[in-house]
Amino acid sequence: MNELSGKHIVLGLTGGIACYKAAELCRALVKEGATVQVVMTAAAQQFITPVTMQALSGRAVVDSQWDAREPNNMAHINLSREADAILVAPCSADFMAKLLHGSADELLSLLCLARPIDRVPLLLAPAMNREMWAHPATQRNVAQLRADGATVLDVGQGEQACGETGDGRMLEAEELLADLIAFFSAKTLLGQHVLVTAGPTYEAIDPVRGITNLSSGKMGFAIARAAREAGATVELVAGPVSLATPRGVTRHDVRSARDMLSATLALAHDATVFVATAAVADWRPATSAEHKIKKDGSGQAPELCFVENPDILATVAKMPRALRGDLFCVGFAAESQDLLANARAKRLRKGVPLLVGNIGPATFGQDDNALLLVDERGSQELPHASKRLLARQLIADIARRLATRGQTYHHSP
Ligand code: CTP
Repeated sequence: MNELSGKHIVLGLTGGIACYKAAELCRALVKEGATVQVVMTAAAQQFITPVTMQALSGRAVVDSQWDAREPNNMAHINLSREADAILVAPCSADFMAKLLHGSADELLSLLCLARPIDRVPLLLAPAMNREMWAHPATQRNVAQLRADGATVLDVGQGEQACGETGDGRMLEAEELLADLIAFFSAKTLLGQHVLVTAGPTYEAIDPVRGITNLSSGKMGFAIARAAREAGATVELVAGPVSLATPRGVTRHDVRSARDMLSATLALAHDATVFVATAAVADWRPATSAEHKIKKDGSGQAPELCFVENPDILATVAKMPRALRGDLFCVGFAAESQDLLANARAKRLRKGVPLLVGNIGPATFGQDDNALLLVDERGSQELPHASKRLLARQLIADIARRLATRGQTYHHSP
């Protein structure tokens, strides 16, 4: 899935050691289908050469408003009119100060000033030493640039090129890419609080062994990401998986079903949407041994007794209305056969308005899936696609349901 296909990005580079990350960023943008026009200030060229950026973007870098290659000699107008967004990464403290004052003495600041402000968004990825970032002048400029309509992205935290540690590093290329993709996403869940459970649970037998399942958490993480991109505040309760936390999502790591239940209940109060994708273990060993269970030499395997785990989704969905308010609950069904019949029955059993069926063995651990959405009116297939795309489709569907809540909901054809 090329997430930026059809988008034309003007990538501006200003002076800063973080220019080395701009090379990776340029590559990532192109890989996602964007066309990228690089514009560099003179200071940026002290850190990285136009040759590198030309090779990665596949286009000659522009660095002067007097560039004679432009037939009308108006690089600032041409470049700013054709962009879907201007992304300045890295954006130095000095460049922010220039933008703030509407200064336009070289091409990049000139084209930022000349951009049609309502149509061409300006995103800035600050990069500087921590003292420069914390300075009242910089913070004042950030606030004013935001008030003027620019999107000032976060800064990273950690060790800096100067040897100091703190806030002010430029975000990594993949973080900037995720922020740009999110920026272009329709904000259909603005104001919503989405709670997602994801991954397997792990039920201990003793301190070194346990029972788990093959769920990778990928579907739930993709849903959390899509919800965040749609503008929601997102809490993700994750069983033991090693996936990266989607940007802007608050993650709560848990191990057992009971841990997952208490984390979920604590967060359910503030949630407006609950999507239960976790493959919760249905049973756990009745007791968990304090020490490793040893072979006793008899050749006899130890006997394990199981007790049923709490049903997290059903517990939340059946909470009294006074406690859960208008919470919209979405369940998943991992089946190995008879998907529609099982999903229908499960929807009623769990007491949720929407249940999403999928074939567990076919999808666990994979990057793609196919979904069957079952509600009180019928069912709708979301055909085989990447989990990323399916997550977006599901979030769009949930947003439509929330928007038309109380009205009759029709499946889109
Ligand atoms: N679920 C849950 N807590 C459980 C079991 C399931 O919250 N203890 C949720 C899952 O996150 C999913 C839905 O319930 O949203 C259905 O899960 P699934 O494993 O498909 O079904 P089960 O309830 O385990 O039913 P069965 O074993 O009969 O398939």
